[in-house]
Amino acid sequence: SQSSSQNVTTIEKSAPEQIATRTVTILYGSETGNGQALSEQLSKQLKDLQRDVTISSMDDFKPKKLKEVEDLLIITATHGEGDPPDNAIQFHEFLHSRKAPKLENVNFSVLSLGDESYEHFCQTGKDFDKRLEELGATRIHPRVDCDVDYEELAEEWITEVLAILKKDAGNTPDTTATNPTPAEQPIYSKSNPYTAEVLDNIILTGKGSNKETRHIEISLEGSNLHYEPGDCLAIYPKNDPALVQAIIKEFQWNAEQTIPINKQGEIRSVQEALTSIFEITRLTKGLLEKASTYFDNEKLHELVADSEKAKTYIDGRDLLDLIIDYPPKQLDPTSIMHFLRKIPARQYSISSSYQANPDEVHLTLATVRYHTHGRDRSGVCTGEIADRIKPGDQLNVYVHKNPNFKFPMDEETPVIMIGPGTGIAPFRGYIEEREELELKGKTWVFFGDQHFRTDFLYQVDWQNWLKQGYLSKMDVAFSRDNEQKVYVQHRMQEKAKELFEWIEAGAHLYVCGDEKRMAKDVHEAFVTIISQQGNLSEEAATEYVNKLKQEKRYQRDVY
Ligand code: 2AM
Repeated sequence: SQSSSQNVTTIEKSAPEQIATRTVTILYGSETGNGQALSEQLSKQLKDLQRDVTISSMDDFKPKKLKEVEDLLIITATHGEGDPPDNAIQFHEFLHSRKAPKLENVNFSVLSLGDESYEHFCQTGKDFDKRLEELGATRIHPRVDCDVDYEELAEEWITEVLAILKKDAGNTPDTTATNPTPAEQPIYSKSNPYTAEVLDNIILTGKGSNKETRHIEISLEGSNLHYEPGDCLAIYPKNDPALVQAIIKEFQWNAEQTIPINKQGEIRSVQEALTSIFEITRLTKGLLEKASTYFDNEKLHELVADSEKAKTYIDGRDLLDLIIDYPPKQLDPTSIMHFLRKIPARQYSISSSYQANPDEVHLTLATVRYHTHGRDRSGVCTGEIADRIKPGDQLNVYVHKNPNFKFPMDEETPVIMIGPGTGIAPFRGYIEEREELELKGKTWVFFGDQHFRTDFLYQVDWQNWLKQGYLSKMDVAFSRDNEQKVYVQHRMQEKAKELFEWIEAGAHLYVCGDEKRMAKDVHEAFVTIISQQGNLSEEAATEYVNKLKQEKRYQRDVY
């Protein structure tokens, strides 16, 4: 069947003259593709060492096969509040259930990807690491937990694990493994972003809206960067110069002094380091702990020792708050690389089609502004773009491929898209691509926002595509135009019968936007609609939806 053929994992045998060694199984749980990319890199390097490698996403791995596993390497992201990523949920559950087999013959190591600003940092990796030990497996290398700037630590883990496995194999050939970089890789990447010119920056929302949602056009001319519908553009933002200045003043530093910014000994001025290199807008417990050893402030030591208090303190505060509330005795700016982390790139779903605009990329961004702890604050990236980026200015960007948000490019597969607010972005890119390729067929968009008059993002585009037949159906839910709130899932419920017909006819479902509330409610709406229309128990409907997920017919890009 289709699903079982999709579930087959790839086993690539080493050269026949090699003496058989233990097979290495790499399993990844990956939300946006980082874990998958690292796994593929690891797999390639193991094959260069003539090892037999099985690599697969956790949800493509049959739990029954666990008994045969020998060397097991797990690379997993953690989602939201400590949950496994979508494609790791079932395996995670299985391994933690009583059905999990004893794994006494298994050697393992875990690489965990996460974000230190979340309380349950790297929780999924920690879960696997602990559980594998409980099941009797042998840890051959300690787990490594990576923050958003994961590259260096991940490389180290890979190198160390490779060294161990190479030794274990015992009979690897002397020809030292090369570490080739594929020629087709674009030159611009996460570690080498492209400095792109901003072409346009306009506000989409109308006067009187509660929101400020922008449409940004960025030039990719000459970059050789490509993207597909569903991919993201990552931007390295710069910190607000006013905040940088306030911090420098508070510390009584000299803005022009040069300081090291990494272990390799690269240097920047204090001004530049605080503007473009280090994150100053967010505190984490890890940061507090590290800072406390440099600040030499007794009260800060006390705060760090009280985990609950520290957690409350960091919420909504930044570096300026910290140095005002817990002033350091004396702090040399050369130490900041030891307690501040690098500014992570922000990823935004692309809202244009590459085919239709090969030299451009368009984004749809809601400006984040709020007031907390006595100050007006804004999102680092959306605030920068709203307040300081004009056409002609530059942004450092790279394309982040999202293998888990991919659209069919044919006229046969019906496509249902749910994207309230800026969640509409990838669907605009997709329909624009279909228009460019002159692909008609069944496409259905659900959009929602607060007010029809001010918040109907890209209204003219949707109307044109409806007229031309590139979009077959559109349902909108403006939540604050009537007394009763209406959301996209209410519109879905109203069209339950037709939705179910589309799904039964093989439709693909896509959800983009707010994760905690919207995507959760939309997921429940799917289950309810399938249960009612298909006459299925809730359990059977859940199973039906899980199967859609496994067949990659239900994909989400939620944040
Ligand atoms: P609200 O702000 O009026 O509550 C895009 O932000 C749209 O998503 C808004 O209309 C917003 O409505 C709506 N929204 C808020 N919570 C939602 C939920 N749980 N499910 C679906 N839409 C939601």
